[in-house]
Amino acid sequence: MSASVKKAAVIGGGVIGGGWVARLMTAGFDVSVFDPHPQAEKYINDVISRNEAAMLRLWPGQTTGQRGKITYAETIGEAVDGAMLVQESVPERLELKQTIHQEIGEAISDQAVIGSSTSGLLPSDIQKQMPHADRMMVAHPYNPVYLLPVVEIVGGEKTSQNAIDTAMQIYSDMGMKPVHITKEIDAFVGDRLLEAMWRESLWLVKEGVATAGTIDDIVRHGLGMRFAQMGQFMTYRLGGGEGGFRHFLEQFEPSLKWPWTKLMDVPEWTDNLVNSIVSQSDEHTGGLSVSELETIRDNNLVDFLKVLRRNDWGAGKTLKNPADMISQQPDQMDASAVPLITWQGVVHEDWADYNNHMTEFRYLEVFSMATDKLLFGCGAGPVYVKQGFSFYTVETHIRHLDEIAIGEPIYVETRLINHDTKKLHLYHDMYGGKEKRHLASGEHMLLHVDMNAGRVAPMPDHLTQAFAHIANAQSELPLPDAAGAAIGMKRK
Ligand SMILES: NC(=O)c1ccc[n+]([C@@H]2O[C@H](COP(=O)([O-])OP(=O)(O)OC[C@H]3O[C@@H](n4cnc5c(N)ncnc54)[C@H](O)[C@@H]3O)[C@@H](O)[C@H]2O)c1
Repeated sequence: MSASVKKAAVIGGGVIGGGWVARLMTAGFDVSVFDPHPQAEKYINDVISRNEAAMLRLWPGQTTGQRGKITYAETIGEAVDGAMLVQESVPERLELKQTIHQEIGEAISDQAVIGSSTSGLLPSDIQKQMPHADRMMVAHPYNPVYLLPVVEIVGGEKTSQNAIDTAMQIYSDMGMKPVHITKEIDAFVGDRLLEAMWRESLWLVKEGVATAGTIDDIVRHGLGMRFAQMGQFMTYRLGGGEGGFRHFLEQFEPSLKWPWTKLMDVPEWTDNLVNSIVSQSDEHTGGLSVSELETIRDNNLVDFLKVLRRNDWGAGKTLKNPADMISQQPDQMDASAVPLITWQGVVHEDWADYNNHMTEFRYLEVFSMATDKLLFGCGAGPVYVKQGFSFYTVETHIRHLDEIAIGEPIYVETRLINHDTKKLHLYHDMYGGKEKRHLASGEHMLLHVDMNAGRVAPMPDHLTQAFAHIANAQSELPLPDAAGAAIGMKRK
């Protein structure tokens, strides 16, 4: 069965292109990559693994094995064939980008939109000679693309409003925060703000006011934490206290005339300055490798996102559950697979009990996610629920057979023991650890419900057929020994 129906192309698979691949796959896109570098595949696999680890922390159990597929193309034409979104992330050189976009434009379909990840080049310059220039725009993300939601959308002189609207919808549907910048300027908005801070930081190091470490400490222990959830203007609004933003502006207006910053100057780029920055930064990062720092960064970003999601605020509002994005597609589960694996993941650190094992209610959570996967795969996902129908669990029996430690892999195999037009009788087996020990079984009875009428109702044909398909594939399997077992103590 095909795993997804949406297709994207990624041209250039380095730091940013690799991040796009990971985000697109998580959102259920099949991604075709073109990157002539001999190590491109290895690098991209590393980024995909990084994203996978982050998604497991962010959405435990909801992504592994449920993403789009990746293929590698020999040419740009092959990569973009059939893609609804083409994302270019080749090195930041105008002539190279112009050549690449010309090739993309010659091969894309009329429906496709093209985003360039450029950090500062103007879309009007990039699109100058290409065919289908009306569909090309800047779509500038931030690293790591798979975790940071914002993408700046900037059209050029030839970009159509229709293409911008289409792209905004696509990026938003994949859980991003597209922001349309209507005026075309070098470096757009985010990089302009970063550039201001970067120039000032260089001056402060050059003049010996602060080291690289001191500057980073001031940002990450203070103003950076405010920016992450309030931004520039909302943060300053609070700086005015009860007097409000007007009071803040009046109070600090004079300081703008003082020579506080050196924004339009750049310190001379001497060996001395470069060496100071490198050695101060080496000292400050305490020997951690890039890969170790990336892991720390990703873990922290995931936890920030979780907090913001819990508080329904800022970047936490844009998050989209990968299971929802993927379940828009009808064909995500190979129902004839035996065994039918419905959940894979690792025991999350938040799931620990006081013995540092997975605590008991998480077993039910995992079984519940496995049930959802089965239902989504059969066509009873969020889209079906929006139509007013769902399955309610009315009975559960869990057997806890073995313990499992935090960080260990686990997976669930699912049996459809019985079904009729209104009921499903499911049986899950959970296995885990390197030895694939049998950890638990979960047996559940579910009823099909018409939620508007508030009562049990017969399922539509497409669902009964999907369940019959699973039952047929599993018909040769013996009934699990414990199916139908009740809790009890042997009478003496
Ligand atoms: N690194 C960042 O933080 C960042 C952030 C936002 C945007 N960007 C922008 O993203 C783009 C890519 O930057 P990066 O940091 O990923 O660079 P990178 O060097 O990590 O990756 C560039 C990739 O392009 C490939 N490539 C080179 N020539 C190619 C060609 N002709 N066809 C296809 N692939 C080719 C390279 O093999 C490499 O894998 C740039 O425009 C950059 O400005 C970078």
